[in-house]
Formats: sequence, structure tokens, C-alpha cells
Amino acid sequence: MESMKQSNYNGFLWGAATSAFQIEGQVETDMTDWERRGKFRADGKDPRVGDAADHWRRWEEDFRLLRDLGVNSYRFSVEWARIEPEPGIYNQSALDQYGRMIDRLLEYGITPMVTLHHFTHPCWFQERSPWHHTRAIECYLRFVNKLSRCLLDRVPLVITLNEPLVWTLAAYGAGKFPPGEKNLRHLMTAFTNMLRAHREAYDLIKHNHPDTQVGIAHNFIAFKRAPSGIEMDRKVKRLIHHFYNSMILEAFRDNRVKVSFPLMLSYDAPIALDDKIDFWGVNYYYRLHVRFRLSIRQPFELLSLVRSSGEGKSDLGWEIYSRGLKKVCRWLASTGKPIYITENGIAAQDDSLRLRFIASHLEMLDEILREGHPVKGYYHWSLLDNYEWLEGTKARFGLYHVDFDNGYGRTLKPSGGFYRDHIKKHSVYLPATE
Ligand code: FCB
Repeated sequence: MESMKQSNYNGFLWGAATSAFQIEGQVETDMTDWERRGKFRADGKDPRVGDAADHWRRWEEDFRLLRDLGVNSYRFSVEWARIEPEPGIYNQSALDQYGRMIDRLLEYGITPMVTLHHFTHPCWFQERSPWHHTRAIECYLRFVNKLSRCLLDRVPLVITLNEPLVWTLAAYGAGKFPPGEKNLRHLMTAFTNMLRAHREAYDLIKHNHPDTQVGIAHNFIAFKRAPSGIEMDRKVKRLIHHFYNSMILEAFRDNRVKVSFPLMLSYDAPIALDDKIDFWGVNYYYRLHVRFRLSIRQPFELLSLVRSSGEGKSDLGWEIYSRGLKKVCRWLASTGKPIYITENGIAAQDDSLRLRFIASHLEMLDEILREGHPVKGYYHWSLLDNYEWLEGTKARFGLYHVDFDNGYGRTLKPSGGFYRDHIKKHSVYLPATE
């Protein structure tokens, strides 16, 4: 039993994940501009990023914390707006700092996984060529080309896009992220353009660095039909599962972005993806129940029935459902691609809840590996408490506590200690670090 367990973790990457905007601070992006214009206030929350977790200044300390955690990989993103504040004009000192960050990780024996786009943009990008314009693809590629030449030579794992569907839903569905439209056609065009941009970026990066593994991080949700419902619940659940979880996988398989949601949305666009993706990044957090609703505008309701799994809920009301992680890996089996769990975590002020969350999901990971799924790494979201989109700093996802009101001090939480010990126990086959 024990030996089977060990062999499962051979070469496994244990990591933590962050994104630039959520931790760095001191940067102007389309999102800070959005805040200034009071666009979040409509929700009655008005989150402010401020200095986020002050990571841009404290990265050396944070990387020591990362090393203390015993991880052998770290997923982070670079901030486009910082690197290219004006179109075609690059900020060399920002590129240099990202370069030093990558070098430091490598010195520590920590494999960098770098996300090139994690929700935020330079303001000029939103003003001139947001994603529903084809021009967006060129802008993104110019940026990727620069990165590929300056930074990516030492980066074995690259994520071109974080959750393109979640971003387009927020930007063109709910209208909460800039450009803040509610337009399903633009939503689908923007999503398709992002996948086209991925395809081009894939070719570009592989041309320069053939060994680099290039993937996308997609957010998966475990949908279930609402209990004691009607047959229509099942049908609507299937449609939503397809749109949210499968459409992107099928696009790579079939070279089409295709969805048909009776009365709401019908879209079919060719796209030459040719299965150009080396791995799938899985961002998995929770389950939702789906209930049919008699409404043409939105014929369904999404419910967080937190008592149904018996595992509790996060501070954001997300139902904890660890089995969902296995379901996702099973869905991905048909792609035949390696899987990295690029995000998994919980917003919880009560750290014992996070500890239980980590324990149950790592137990599930163990089962997933025993089932033979090609999961190559797990990255906990997040290394540090940070700025959560639409919520601010109250939603605490970190393995390290950040004292936002008092000098940004960092303290390891018991759940972080638990994760560190788990990594230690399961790291027997890791390549030796310095
Ligand atoms: C994911 C995002 C990430 C973080 C977590 C909680 O959807 O990729 O930036 O906000 O949710």
C-alpha cells in the first residue's frame, strides 16, 4: 500500500499559487481604473486593491516563506500593465525584477509556473482593443513575444490564460469587470479571441523554447441538479455543464467554439486550435446546484446548497465538495493531457476550516492518483491572504496570514503548517534541491 502511494508522487510538483494583481500592489491596470470610477460600488462592496499584499516590495521575504513551506513549484503571474504601460513601450526595470524573481525561485529549487494573463490589462488595452475586437490578439501576442524573449527561457511551465471563460463572464456577462458590458455575443467573441490568442502564443513560445509546457488554467465547477426537482432541472444542468466545463475542451478537440442554449445563446465559430495545449490547469473550488426557472432571460438558477455535501461552506458561501475534484479529473481523461491542479483553496477566517478543506482535497488527490489520472502537480490557492476580486481583502485564502492594517506582516497559519507537513511526507521522490 505504502509503496503504491509513494510511486504516485514521483516527481510531483507541490506548490502554491498567486496572481500579480492580487498580491503585488503599486500598479495601474484596467481594474484600478475601474475602482477609481466607482464601478464596483454598484454591488455595495467597493473593494479597493490599494497595495494588495505589498508583494512587489516584499517578494524576497515572500519567496523565503515559500521555501519554508517546502514547495518545489510556485505559480504566479506577471502584470501586463506593469511591463507594457504604453503600447509597445516596455518597462525594463519591471522585466528585470520578474527576471530576478524567476532566478531566485530556481536557486531555491522551486520550479516556476508563470501565468501570462490573469484577469488584468493595461488601461490602453481596454480603451483601444478589448478582447471582443480581433486587434486584441495582436496586442497580446506582442506582449507574449517580449516575455518569450526576456523571461520564458527559464520557465518550464507557462499558462497563457487564467480562466478565460470566467473573465469573459465577468466582463461581458455580469458586466462586473471592465469593459463592463452585458452582451452575450461579445462574450463569445471575446472568449474565442482569447483562445485564438492562446493558439498563436503556443506556437510562438514553442518555437522559441520547444521544451516549455504550455497550458491554460480553466475554472471547473461541479454542477448538480437541484434536489427533488423536475426533469427540466436535469436538462438545464446538462446545458450549463457543457457551457462551463466542456465547451473549452471540445474547442481543442473539434476546432470549433460551439454552444447552443435554447432561447439564450447559439454560437458556432471555427477555430484552428489543433489540440495545441500541453496540459490542462484545473482551478477547482466548489459545487453548485442548478434549478430550472421559467424565464427567457435566464432559464435557470444556480444555488449553493451548502448542507448537501456535509463538508460545509466557505466565507463566500461556496459549498465545499472535495469529490468534485475527482469528477473534474475524470472529465479531463478524454483529452489525454497531463493535469495540474493550478488552484484549489478556500476563503475562510476560521483557519481550522481551511485545514479540513486541505485535508479532504489532498485525500481526494491521493485517490485520483491511485485511479491513474495524470495529475502532475497541486498548487494551493493561495500562498498569502490577498485581494479577492469583487470582495477585497476580507476573503482570506492564504496559507500565510497578512496583517493588512498593520504593516503587512506575514504569519504562517496552522493550515499552512499542515500543508508543509503533508508536502514533506509526500516528497520522497522529488529531485534534490540545493
Ligand atoms: C479564481 C481566480 C483567482 C482567485 C480564486 C479565488 O477564479 O483565478 O484569481 O481569485 O478564484
